[in-house]
Amino acid sequence: MMPPITCIEDLHRLYRKRVPRMFVDYCESGSWTESTLRRNLEDFARIQLHQRVAMGVGGGTTTTTMLGEKVSLPVALAPVGLLGMQHADGEMLAAQAALDFGVPFTLSTMSVCSIEDVAAHVQRPFWFQLYVLRDHAFIERLIDRAKAAGCSALVLTLDLQVMGQRHRDIKNGLSVPPKPTLRNLIKLAAHPRWCWGMARTRRHRFGNIVGHVEGVSDMSSLAAWTAEQFDRGLNWNDVEWIKRRWGGKLVMKGVLDPDDARRAVDCGADAVVVSNHGGRQLDGAPSSISVLPEIAQRIGRECEVWLDGGVRSGQDVLKAIALGARGVMSGRAFVYGLGALGAAGVSTALELIRRELDLTMVLCGVRSVEEIGRRLLHER
Ligand SMILES: Cc1cc2nc3c(=O)[nH]c(=O)nc-3n(C[C@H](O)[C@H](O)[C@H](O)COP(=O)(O)O)c2cc1C
Repeated sequence: MMPPITCIEDLHRLYRKRVPRMFVDYCESGSWTESTLRRNLEDFARIQLHQRVAMGVGGGTTTTTMLGEKVSLPVALAPVGLLGMQHADGEMLAAQAALDFGVPFTLSTMSVCSIEDVAAHVQRPFWFQLYVLRDHAFIERLIDRAKAAGCSALVLTLDLQVMGQRHRDIKNGLSVPPKPTLRNLIKLAAHPRWCWGMARTRRHRFGNIVGHVEGVSDMSSLAAWTAEQFDRGLNWNDVEWIKRRWGGKLVMKGVLDPDDARRAVDCGADAVVVSNHGGRQLDGAPSSISVLPEIAQRIGRECEVWLDGGVRSGQDVLKAIALGARGVMSGRAFVYGLGALGAAGVSTALELIRRELDLTMVLCGVRSVEEIGRRLLHER
């Protein structure tokens, strides 16, 4: 019998067994030397909490709001590409699990299941993440599709105007779907549960792109299209144009500098995500938790500030909120759950984090997320 799953690390271990190496590497890697990826985790671990006793904090709750939406936990699922390769129909399963749990789900532009697939599978609105690409007509169509699907917020990712290099993806020849070479087929066959799931779904490609861009119908045309889509010229005029075109709630993700955060607010951000893309873009950048306080100080009174990067527990959520975040986004923690156990794994990951946050709040002497503040940190 499998021992009980008591922490995200348990899901992580099972994830590594059940998902093919190519996609584990894609998830776990950071860019170049992975120094920023490591720093995200190390800097969380360094922060100490301030214990209080006999505070009479019965009847507490982790319920709060993000973007004005009620959430059972101040954690939204971050946009993660290729979820449908971590588990068959991964985006649909993760969306369902998150929305049932009462937290937001963000669908990546680079998802396997399309916006329409997810909308048909869930009963509540989800969020859609947009990359700023050169093909503005395609962006307009994506925005219109997200509106038609009833998405309640657009998450605009600003830190991927070029792509950070991840060595293992190149060495593994990462592609969606994997190329049917003998080497790949032997490796995939070592993961029968994964193969069985994939054999039972028809969703094996980038569902938001293939068939929606003229001339992109297969792997090679998709690779060529993607490569030419990164736009080094990305600037705040593009952001303002997207804001006008979307017209709804807009989250700007990938900010590490207070001046950039200020500019995001001026361009109409409803929330700003302090993020280094999970250590996958600028290697050498600081951890997101280390720059959070300065950014929260600068814009926290005008718009919601969230954080992602390195969140693996309820204690991490509390630390981020204590340092000025209104909520966090979770990336790898929920992917581990999805790859390990499908939808049930995503629910397990969220429940583990919820319970950790709840108990940690009690041990720090607070009853609600709104009461969490810097005094909960042990900074002497
Ligand atoms: C495998 C993987 C794929 C990702 N894909 C996207 C994406 O498509 N769009 C995006 O804005 N961010 C993407 N991110 C970044 C996440 O949204 C988030 O910023 C990051 O995962 C947070 O760090 P954490 O994994 O330590 O929680 C991805 C991250 C990972 C690990």
